[in-house]
Amino acid sequence: MTAILTFNQQRLFEQARSLQEKQDVIVVVKNNAYNFGMERAYRAFYKAGIRSYATTNLEEAVWLRKQDDQTTVLLLDPSTEFDILREHDISLTLPNLAFYHQYKEHLEGIKIHLVFKNLLNRFGFDTADEMKTVFDEQLLTITGIWTHFAFADELLDNRYEIEKENWSNVLTVLEPYLDTLTFIHAQNSASYLRDGLFDQHTHIRAGVIAYGTRPYYDLPESLAMQTIEVSATVKDVVSVPKGQSAGYSAAFVAAEDTTLAICDIGYGNGILRTRSKHKVMINQKTFPIAVLMMSHLMVKVDTSVSIGDRVYLYNDTLRLDYFTHKGVGAFSEQMASLNHQTFKITNIPLSE
Ligand SMILES: Cc1ncc(COP(=O)(O)O)c(C=O)c1O
Repeated sequence: MTAILTFNQQRLFEQARSLQEKQDVIVVVKNNAYNFGMERAYRAFYKAGIRSYATTNLEEAVWLRKQDDQTTVLLLDPSTEFDILREHDISLTLPNLAFYHQYKEHLEGIKIHLVFKNLLNRFGFDTADEMKTVFDEQLLTITGIWTHFAFADELLDNRYEIEKENWSNVLTVLEPYLDTLTFIHAQNSASYLRDGLFDQHTHIRAGVIAYGTRPYYDLPESLAMQTIEVSATVKDVVSVPKGQSAGYSAAFVAAEDTTLAICDIGYGNGILRTRSKHKVMINQKTFPIAVLMMSHLMVKVDTSVSIGDRVYLYNDTLRLDYFTHKGVGAFSEQMASLNHQTFKITNIPLSE
């Protein structure tokens, strides 16, 4: 058998519902829904009651619109494909004043969200006054405003407080217009879990927590249900006497007589090299990885392990958020690297 990537769509639904029940969610589905699979994720989120979707990719936005003509589909990145945006009722992020001046004649009939740049320094208006200029000119159909915090996930960095203050000042300047807006959104998962929904805001804009991962580790595990599992098969068990090596260029040298399980998964499947610094699970016991190769993993095991056993790299115990905490990489990095083509994909579907 080959390596298996299992998505738990039912849990994704339950996770999303637990969020949407508390307040409205714009769910971020960029990058093929954080590589969960757009259609799989969309069906779960939709069933959970979420009706607002955000992506950076126009093709994904068009796909989302084709599923339902009543939802809000927000393009987080700027685009000049005005006809497509209009035709598919995709809300466009207006990235700055220069874009506005250059294209304002083309934006008729397109719903617009203005974005404030803040400390992320990606896209965005530099000041609230610039944003107010656009409101005052009354040329556009403005349905939303937003910002994105660069430091919400950094609990020890007080720049989150500065970005919140900056954003609060923007809301003060735009106060006369706030009642006209359907969407005022700023908070990613970490910001929401730290502060709850901010006053005057209509939605959170959630990624990781909607997918079942805690953005920071001191939150209770019960807040987030792991929604994927990655496993492979032990294809061979070899003995490496003390002093001998295994792997290319003696990647592993046995300090003592060692038993290695050779498993059919590797970095070719998208397993991050940082992940190989941590244990895997076989028959409910954890074992360290000795070598990560393109198609193989060598695991230091004991005599309890046999050919045909399953080796787990991610499951309910080996959680994505645990490995983020251990420095393996952000949830999105661990997920985005998984190479679907190299896995047998299975899904635990939505229950009826
Ligand atoms: C603009 C924007 N909003 C929201 C999110 C969701 O963030 P998180 O996954 O931390 O909830 C992202 C993720 O990258 C984003 O780029």
